[in-house]
Amino acid sequence: MANLSNSNERDQWSSKIGFVLAAAGSAVGLGNLWRFPYTAGQNGGGAFVLMYFVILFLVGFTLMLAELIIGRHTQLNAIGAYRKIRKNWAWVGGIGVLASFLILSFYSVIGGWVVHYVVRTVTGGLALADTNAYEGLFVGFITNPIQPILYHAIFASLTVGIVMGGVSGGIEKYSKILMPGLFVMMIIIMLRSVTLPGASEGIKFFLAPDFSKIDGSVMLAALGQVFFSLSLGMGVIITYGSYLGKSENIPQNSITIPLVDTGIALLAGLAILPAVFALGFEPDAGPSLLFITLPAVFAEMPLGMVFALIFFLLVLFAALTSSISLLEASVSFVVDQFKLSRKSAAALLGLAVFLLGIPSSLGQGIWSDLTFIRGNDFMDSIDFIASNIMLPLGGFFLCIFIGWIWGIDNALKEATNNGKISFKLAGFWSFLVKYVAPLAILVVFFQGLRS
Ligand code: PFF
Repeated sequence: MANLSNSNERDQWSSKIGFVLAAAGSAVGLGNLWRFPYTAGQNGGGAFVLMYFVILFLVGFTLMLAELIIGRHTQLNAIGAYRKIRKNWAWVGGIGVLASFLILSFYSVIGGWVVHYVVRTVTGGLALADTNAYEGLFVGFITNPIQPILYHAIFASLTVGIVMGGVSGGIEKYSKILMPGLFVMMIIIMLRSVTLPGASEGIKFFLAPDFSKIDGSVMLAALGQVFFSLSLGMGVIITYGSYLGKSENIPQNSITIPLVDTGIALLAGLAILPAVFALGFEPDAGPSLLFITLPAVFAEMPLGMVFALIFFLLVLFAALTSSISLLEASVSFVVDQFKLSRKSAAALLGLAVFLLGIPSSLGQGIWSDLTFIRGNDFMDSIDFIASNIMLPLGGFFLCIFIGWIWGIDNALKEATNNGKISFKLAGFWSFLVKYVAPLAILVVFFQGLRS
């Protein structure tokens, strides 16, 4: 198995499944289980899901392949990869690495909430008789000025520890058990959720698009979600692609990974939104859906707390396989660039991530009056800048870079392993990467900023 702890040696994944699991592990995370359902809830449900699919097909697959091509071709971290092909394009990789760092800062705060829910379930504190009490429980926890910061520290330390110690023997091995486990659990919870009395309203809300709801900001939210969920635009996929062997079929991988990711996001939406309606919560409640609604669903199930424990453990695992990839993007750059040891780089960056996450945590409680961008608190502002601005910009320049600067011919040579494998959609992909994806990103980007 590849050893991500030592990216300087440019390890390779030893098996196809090792790479697919790591990349799917990066893609499947809080973005699917937490961000997708609540963003759908805030943006008109089905209207958002429809836009998500349109953008997934036009932009998601296209950029996934583009990043894998650059990574495998150069066998370098994101900034180094751009620099190797064209010296003065390194800044595009820089946007990505900075975005991954910003995202990790609040990702780790939410990861801390998950750790807390695991602990609370184990200690019996998640079994409440009154399903309406879960809101108070959650709000009480996240508005506390100290506790969530401690849990944020625990989650950040877990991430740092794994990145320091290497990934192959741990994450890869456990991914094989836990990712299918997550999938099975999601199906069970989804089945419970859609069979609750009153669930059909939620299913309709999630799956039936109301076209009148589609506007610039819904489109921008969907664009940001595609980037966030597929781990695109931040150099993570470039870095992971750089560990791939030259004989792997990357066009195929660029379809598998988004399909797995989207499948899990849809399951999460169907697990959460019908329950929201059935139990009388508001679908646009935002980030709290995972922490308020699901425990309430569990409380109504036989053996609910057992399910809750398994579920939150799996959420934690999904979050960790994503957070290590986020940290890996900047660690591999700092190691290459400043010749720091991997351990020191992980520790230093981890500390910086922890500090930057503190205002995101305090913004839930004592600093909740402080608003930054578009009336959002610190966490949502960082999320907005990184996911909805930096990632789309990074993605736009990635298309320009591949389509117009480095050139489609070079990219296709890499994609087809120098003509050794067939890539039937080569012509279509070239058209998408040169014209459709960059235009779509620009249009959505400016529409979204105006509305
Ligand atoms: N894709 C992850 C998720 O959906 O939770 C989050 C993420 C991981 C974003 C890695 C970006 C990234 F580079």
